[in-house]
Amino acid sequence: MNVQKIKNGLVIDHIRAGTGLRIFNWLKLDKVPFSVALIMNVSSKHMGKKDIIKIDNEIDIDYSVLGFIDPNITVNVVEDEYVIRKISLSLPDRVENVIRCLNPRCITSSETGIPHVFRLVDRKRAEYACLYCDELYRAGIGEVL
Ligand code: CTP
Ligand code: ZN
Repeated sequence: MNVQKIKNGLVIDHIRAGTGLRIFNWLKLDKVPFSVALIMNVSSKHMGKKDIIKIDNEIDIDYSVLGFIDPNITVNVVEDEYVIRKISLSLPDRVENVIRCLNPRCITSSETGIPHVFRLVDRKRAEYACLYCDELYRAGIGEVL
């Protein structure tokens, strides 16, 4: 499938197939006034199938949250139709207010106003532990706040 090249903006590439729509929604791209494209199930040599998001506008993205959602993503920064930078994402060491601790005995469940902080404890398994109660969670968009 052919989708036009963009002029100035971002191409979010190598998204695990099936995750593109959720990233599209997380970035609230359904409400923007500029051109955006969500391309799903593109054939890829390395990944089998992948999703791609094209955004024809300079926007700010929280790369640590995006890396938490899918660490295999590449973000291409496009200027005047050329890719001027490729940003490889990775799992961040720490995320704050991205997922919520579900342990009812956790202090974040009983008290309000405490940030939900998780630290990376196992990069291979993409596992994060709650800073307060050590409950384990897997990275990904499933539980994003
Ligand atoms: N792209 C775009 N508009 C541009 C330039 C690039 O939409 N003006 C898109 C390309 O279609 C591609 C992605 O941005 O999906 C990355 O472009 P490029 O680095 O040229 O492609 P590859 O070399 O295939 O990237 P990679 O090796 O990272 O897979
Ligand atoms: Zn907790």
